[in-house]
Amino acid sequence: VNPLETVTVGLGDRSYEIIVGPGALARAGTHISPLLRQPRTIVVTDPVVADFHLEALSRSLSDSDIAFETIVVPAGEEAKSMAELERLLARLLELGIERSSCIVALGGGVVGDLAGFAAAVALRGIDFVQIPTTLLAQVDSSVGGKTGINTQAGKNLIGAFHQPRLVLADTKVLDTLPRRQLLAGYAEVVKYGLIDDPAFFGWLEGHGAALLGRDDAARVKAVVRSCRAKADIVAADEREAGRRALLNLGHTFGHALEAACGYGDILLHGEAVAIGMVMAFELSVRLGHCPADHADRLRRHLAAVGLPTDPQHVDGVIFSADDLRRRMATDKKVKDGHLVFVLARGIGEAFVSNSVDVDALTAVLEDSLAA
Ligand SMILES: NC(=O)c1ccc[n+]([C@@H]2O[C@H](COP(=O)([O-])OP(=O)(O)OC[C@H]3O[C@@H](n4cnc5c(N)ncnc54)[C@H](O)[C@@H]3O)[C@@H](O)[C@H]2O)c1
Ligand SMILES: [Zn+2]
Repeated sequence: VNPLETVTVGLGDRSYEIIVGPGALARAGTHISPLLRQPRTIVVTDPVVADFHLEALSRSLSDSDIAFETIVVPAGEEAKSMAELERLLARLLELGIERSSCIVALGGGVVGDLAGFAAAVALRGIDFVQIPTTLLAQVDSSVGGKTGINTQAGKNLIGAFHQPRLVLADTKVLDTLPRRQLLAGYAEVVKYGLIDDPAFFGWLEGHGAALLGRDDAARVKAVVRSCRAKADIVAADEREAGRRALLNLGHTFGHALEAACGYGDILLHGEAVAIGMVMAFELSVRLGHCPADHADRLRRHLAAVGLPTDPQHVDGVIFSADDLRRRMATDKKVKDGHLVFVLARGIGEAFVSNSVDVDALTAVLEDSLAA
């Protein structure tokens, strides 16, 4: 049996562990059992993940004498809706949950965000465990306690901070994930290197391809390093008053691109973030903060693994600089009318700026659209 790695998210009496490694799912019962206040749990998952991985979880829970019910929510972003939340809450209440109940979210960021939010509000808050099954969820959404749903007004605008009791990231479950989804999650891995870990970025340049293949050792290393980076930031700034904003590197541009594409299959979140990170570096170069060769190095690595690096790579969509700029101004990361941008002095040296020159922003947008 492979030893599993552990990362701790230090939040006082709400601290929890992220357990990483191949085989974590098969040992879920052993890890979850000590946390349960009754030998019973409710698994929330989507039909795609259920097909591939519910059986392994079921077996493990049964082996640990944990009784469970399963609630299947639809796959995909549409499940993060008020209607699905209502359905999920109704079902949970029907099953007779109590304050001492615990939900297990088995799936990607969609299942985690929806089930986590349901756990935050059901009976004013019950426990939940995250078993993330996409790379994006393993390195990002399952850690940090942000939960929520989308509305007409935008993505993730209704939600709650609700930390899980445990995160189990089984790198083996990524074997069934479509490559495009795997790559999208990889963009967030690269982000951690860009924020404050140039050595990790260098390691990714050498090992990214292996990680995106089926090299479990490389996957474990990348997931652990990413979770540790996010855990440190979250422990220092749980509710995004300062340092946590660094996690939005590439996201102001990325969200504008995603919104322009309608949050669908045209452009996945991670793909938008990949393009957005390149644009954030270009903006940093233009503002004189960052040497141009750092932006080139980032672009080269993303392209080498197969991620898009500029808006021209998005098939069938024509973006306009005006439209993107307007969308950035309505992004929720706006502070007192100024756009908050994460810029960089180089790879591994990101910083938050709220005084970005509008002309420089326009120039970067126009350049990238004209390329
Ligand atoms: N809470 C946070 O801090 C945070 C951070 C980043 C993103 N998010 C949210 O995460 C969501 C995106 O998450 P995602 O990228 O994981 O998407 P997702 O949950 O929609 O999963 C992508 C697709 O892969 C399928 N899938 C999941 N695991 C699989 C597996 N192991 N094998 C085969 N198929 C599998 C799913 O059924 C789905 O169709 C967005 O809603 C985003 O807002 C939240
Ligand atoms: Zn992201």
